[in-house]
Amino acid sequence: MSAPFQRYSTIAMAFHWIIAILITAMVFYGWWMEDIRDQAFAGEVPFTTVEAVYNWHKTTGIAILLLSLARLGWRLMHTPPPLSPTLKPYEKLAAHGVHFAFYGVMIGAPIMGWITASAGQFPTKLFNSALTLPRLPVPQTEGFEELAGSLHGASGWVILILLGLHVGAALKHQFLDKDGNLARMIPFVPAPKTHAADDER
Ligand code: HEM
Repeated sequence: MSAPFQRYSTIAMAFHWIIAILITAMVFYGWWMEDIRDQAFAGEVPFTTVEAVYNWHKTTGIAILLLSLARLGWRLMHTPPPLSPTLKPYEKLAAHGVHFAFYGVMIGAPIMGWITASAGQFPTKLFNSALTLPRLPVPQTEGFEELAGSLHGASGWVILILLGLHVGAALKHQFLDKDGNLARMIPFVPAPKTHAADDER
């Protein structure tokens, strides 16, 4: 007999989708933000716009950091439904590895951004208001800011690579293996037919 179909809890799904959307958008926002900065150096955009655009990036990044820490805390206190028994051992290992790495970048990328911002000369005005993010105790030198900025920028690529692996695996299970794995994380996707009764519980 196959194991019962179990969805993730509503809180786990909410954390998953809110962070997934925000973090993916942030990578493209980060690249766009650098274009805006270059346009300001070319005299096409005022520097006050650049400052506002950067402050929204930093504010959203800090929100992602807080959400990710809350998600990690919540995850450590709640056991998720077990991975589907239809997964091969190497698939289980890969899934756990990608999930672990995601927690690393969800927390590491914004901290690296905070370090970069702390090394730079501009204050981080949260919500573009008078509320200022404290600086982390890091060297305020151009060299260090450049190094931290490169590592922070690289974390954007790590996020996209992990996302490719994660989404690719989810789609393979949904459309090739048809084992209903995707339905575990999406409330409105029906459970696989063989498990319909379990989903109604
Ligand atoms: C998950 C959250 C975050 C993601 C995915 C992200 C992503 C990015 C990306 C893709 C860039 C462009 C890098 C490049 O093209 O070189 C960037 C730049 C930057 N980010 Fe973030 N970021 C996040 C959070 C933060 C936070 C929390 C802060 C500060 C409090 C921050 C501060 C910066 C700064 C200062 C830059 C400019 C770096 C430079 O010019 O070298 N970021 N970010």
